[in-house]
Parts: sequence; C-alpha cells; structure tokens
Amino acid sequence: MTEENWRRVDDYIAAALISEEEAQEETLAVNARENLPAIDVSPPQGKLLHLLAYAIGARHILEIGTLGGYSTIWLARAVGDGGMVVTFEVDPRHAEVARDNITREGMSARVDLRVGPALAMLPLLVAERPEPFDLTFIDADKPNNAAYFAYALKLSRPGALIIVDNVVREGAVADPSKTDGGALGARALFEAVAAERRVEATAVQTVGAKGWDGFLIARVT
Ligand code: SAH
Ligand code: DHB
Ligand code: MG
Repeated sequence: MTEENWRRVDDYIAAALISEEEAQEETLAVNARENLPAIDVSPPQGKLLHLLAYAIGARHILEIGTLGGYSTIWLARAVGDGGMVVTFEVDPRHAEVARDNITREGMSARVDLRVGPALAMLPLLVAERPEPFDLTFIDADKPNNAAYFAYALKLSRPGALIIVDNVVREGAVADPSKTDGGALGARALFEAVAAERRVEATAVQTVGAKGWDGFLIARVT
C-alpha cells in the first residue's frame, strides 16, 4: 500500500483508457518545465471531471484554481463549441502558463481566465448575472473552500454539480489532531455542505499518483 503502487495503477489506467491526444502530456511537460507545483489533477481524475461534465451536458463551467490549465482543458473539452469555462487563478505566472497551454490545445475560445484572488473577484462575477453554471470545480486555497462553495451554490442552476478537490488530505479531515489550514478548510466545507438543504452530497476517497485524497461531490436540488 505505497504511493508507488498507486502510481503504477494510475499509469495502467491511463495507458488502457486515456488516449495520447486526451492525456495532454505536453501541458504537464510545460508545467514541469515552468516549475509549477505538480498539483494538477491526475489524468484519470481529469477524465472523471470531463466525463461528469459531459454526462450532465454542461455548457457553462466555473473553476476556482487554474494552475497550468490541466483540469481547465479537460473541462473545456466537455463543453463543446459555444460552451465556456470561467476559471480563476491568483498567480499571474501560473495564469500565463495556463493561457499558453489552453491556446496550444485549441481551447482559448472556451476559456475565460480571470487573474486575481477568487474571493475578491467572485462578487464581480455575481454582479455580471451570468448564465447559471452547470458545474463548478473548486481546487484553490483550501481554507476558503466553504466560502467558494457558497458562491458556487449561488451561481448554479438546479441539477448542477459542485465538485471540490482535496477534501481528505491523507485522512487529516477526520483526524482532530490535524489543525492545518487544509484540514480545517475541509472540515468547514463538510459542515457547510451538511447544513445546506439545497444540495445532496457525498465524498469519495481516492488513491493514485496524487497520494491519498478525495473529492466532495454535491448536486444542487
Ligand atoms: N485545478 C488545477 C490545479 C489547481 S492548484 C488542475 O487540476 O490542473 C491550485 C491553484 O489555485 C494554484 O495555481 C494557486 O495559485 C491557485 N490559488 C490559490 N489561492 C487562490 C485564490 N485565492 N484565488 C485564485 N486562485 C488561487
Ligand atoms: C495542494 C493543492 C491541490 O489542489 C492539490 O490537488 C494537492 C496539493 C497543496 O496546496 O498542497
Ligand atoms: Mg487539487
């Protein structure tokens, strides 16, 4: 039960089920060359996001935390021509790398990349009265997860999905002795979702190339 085994299985899954064209190896290579932290979703996770978006016919997607655009591109491929992914990134250097990747992958017409702290920019998005979002992927600074969830809910259509990355953090979510920002942010998110009558939700633990973590998945009723 080691990370090495989990990675081997992720490689196996990707080799079997994810085509080279889908896998975006160039995006991951560029991100590594530009010294971005290697905290993109894994290829099987990226494809899961893509399949969920595709399954609900998502045309309008909100993402918080772009990094190099790896998850953004998986999502943008699901929305089709005329669809849009609005994605927030606080780090201008990450955003610059993401913009290049998104353009190279032919997705720039489907991506609205906004640079700045998401919590400060979300009120501006609300004020624009955008078409309601079909899916939100929250994957930025973990202490703000509950606040991002509240914005996602405000901006969602009934039936929309809200997916939050990194809610398990090697089990820290359920370990009261862990009081770092990630663990506290994850617990605050679970409490907020549990108290929210307008969603039904679950969370699933994951192991793989990104270690032991998990997604929370909520459906807006
Ligand atoms: N979703 C990406 C990974 C995101 S990593 C993928 O799977 O490919 C988290 C990103 O959130 C980092 O790039 C970080 O700079 C960004 N971030 C952190 N705090 C933020 C904030 N307050 N507002 C917007 N982005 C933020
Ligand atoms: C971190 C952030 C992520 O989004 C992730 O998937 C893994 C790690 C981090 O900030 O450590
Ligand atoms: Mg993440």
